This record gives sequence, structure tokens and C-alpha cells, in this order.
Amino acid sequence: MKSETVHVDLAGRSYDIAIGPGLLAEAPARVSPFLKRPFAVIVTDENVASAQLPALQKALQAAGINCPAITLPAGEGTKSFTQLAGLCDQLLAAGVERKDIVIALGGGVIGDLTGFAAAILRRGVNFIQIPTSLLAQVDSSVGGKTGINSKHGKNLIGAFHQPVAVLADLDVLKTLPQRQRAAGYAEIAKYGLLGNAAFFKWLDQNVESIMAGDRAATAHAVKTSCEMKARIVAEDETETGVRALLNLGHTFGHALEAATGYSSTLLHGEAVAIGMVQAFGFSESLGHCPQGLNRKVAAHLRRAGLPTHMSEIKATLPPPEKLLQLMYQDKKAESGKLTFILAKDIGESFIAKGVDEAKVLAFLKEDAAKQGLAKP
Ligand code: GLY
Repeated sequence: MKSETVHVDLAGRSYDIAIGPGLLAEAPARVSPFLKRPFAVIVTDENVASAQLPALQKALQAAGINCPAITLPAGEGTKSFTQLAGLCDQLLAAGVERKDIVIALGGGVIGDLTGFAAAILRRGVNFIQIPTSLLAQVDSSVGGKTGINSKHGKNLIGAFHQPVAVLADLDVLKTLPQRQRAAGYAEIAKYGLLGNAAFFKWLDQNVESIMAGDRAATAHAVKTSCEMKARIVAEDETETGVRALLNLGHTFGHALEAATGYSSTLLHGEAVAIGMVQAFGFSESLGHCPQGLNRKVAAHLRRAGLPTHMSEIKATLPPPEKLLQLMYQDKKAESGKLTFILAKDIGESFIAKGVDEAKVLAFLKEDAAKQGLAKP
């Protein structure tokens, strides 16, 4: 299988996303055009350091590129001020200059943290994303959102800083645990649900193949997701409008992640899966979309092994009033009012500003009272 390229068109900040097998081995040729000297620092986490780092370092070193690695703890907790400070100091200690390249080798946590460190180090150095999780390949490595979490909420401290290239090597997904693959699948389904009914229909026929690691199906899913994201980001890089659609399920999902302490109890993609079903359920309760769509969405996501209701989270959740409060930290909130991405249909989402909190609370209470949706 040949690799394919999706272009992100952002004038002076444009870049290519390469998607295909064997890209780690091709890294020297793909990274070299961005190097001012044969030197790049790789940032990764403990899991990826054992699974993928040796192959990348071997390939770069064989091409004469000096590539020391900084290895951080795995997990969402790494997106913190403490880790950011430590990473910046380590990058400076490694001798990263203004015109050097930093490589983020990992999932969304490493990509977001490294991108943010690159954005502020020496007032901005360039970085390359080599995403190693399905979620990072289809979402977080593309579009330049970088940042860390705060005790007040997810991704609340950060910067827009586009990578100069993204290498999505499909081979690295072979070692991805099924739970992580499912979490990535949630973001793939998101693209169909938010704006591409035909893609959702295709996913409905191919979800099991993607989850089984079928290469052609996975390649098509990753490419279509990246194409959709590239189009939306090119239209609205800093989310003043249409980019907010990429947050389908995220207002609900981020509140659940905050409520569970950003722990492995609930992965981001799992929170998004539950949040998307809630977004469809809320849309139904407000009369925006036909009844029963949330059940259809839930049934689809369950085929990927995803949770689809709050009752499946193995933690004691706070009451609906507290979940509502957590939602006010959402970055889409404006003048103290909540914004949601709601749906008119599958493939037809829209931005709803100034949503009445009483309606959100009523929905959350009703939803919390249910024990799962559309269980077979
Ligand atoms: N993950 C949503 C965005 O990049 O805008």
C-alpha cells in the first residue's frame, strides 16, 4: 500500500499529513527537509518509548541525524504545568535552538504537550507530529491545537501552533490496545456524525473491519477523517466559527472527563462517545432531530466496543448540577452562556449558542436516571 497525502491549506502555515505504512522507516527523508542541521529532539512517553521509539531513532541515526529522546510518563496527567516546565527545561538542556525541530512521537497527550512546549520555547520552534494512536492520527495531531489541562478543565491552557508535518504511520497501530483503538474510533465516527452522512454509512458497514485492524479500511477511515479536519481547519484555524463543530460530544464529554479526574477510568474518546450520544439525545429532547437517532448512534458506537452511557463509567459521578457547573469551563461558553454542538440529523450538526441551562439540567437528570440507552 502506498502512502497518501492530505494537505492542510493554511497559507504560510500549510503542511502535509502523510498517511500510510512504513512511515517511521521513511522518517529521515520526510523530516530532513525541515532540519537546519542533522539534529532533532524526540519527545515520547514510556509506552511508546518501548514500542516505537527504537525504530524511529534507528532510522534517523542511520541517516546521520542525532536524535536524543525525552521520555515522559504515559497518561492524561502528563498534560500539566509541572510536566510542561520539566519538558521545556529538558529541551533547552538538550540544546534545542530556535530553528531546530522537535518531534512529538506519541498519542494525543504527547502531541498536545510537545506542541505547546514548542509554541512557547524560545517564543516558538517548529515541530513534527508522529501520532502513534488512532485518536491522534485522526484528530489531535492535525490542526494545531496544543495545550495542557487545568484543575478547572481540559485543554484550558494552550496555544494554536501548527506542526510543519504530520506522519501517520498505520503500522504503529498494530500494537495499539483495543480500548485505545475504540477511543480513536469515536473521533472517526464524529466526522460522519457531524457533517458526512455518506461517511457514517460507510462506517456502519466497516466498523468491525476497522476495529479488527483491516489496513485498507483503517487507511480510508484515517484519510477521510484527516480530509474533513483539514477542510474545517483551513476554513477556521482558530475556531471562531465552523471549527467548533469538531467539538460534537465534547461539552458533555469534557465534563465527564473532569468528573473522573482525567484518569484511565474514562479515556477521552470514550467520553466523546458518551458525549455524542448525549448530544443527539439532547437534540432530540429539544426537538431538533428525529426521535431515536441517539439510539442509532449508541448502537453504532457499541459495535466498536465503546461505552455509550454515563452508567457504564466505573466511577461515582457527581450529581447533574455539578456536571452542569463543569460545563461552564467549556471554551465555547460565551458571556456566561453554554454553547453546544447539536444535531438535526446524522451528518448535520450545528452550533447552538446561549443554550438554556435549565434545559441542560433537565436533560442531564433524565439521562442520569436511565441505565444505558438502547441496550440490546
Ligand atoms: N479536536 C477538535 C479540534 O481540533 O478542533
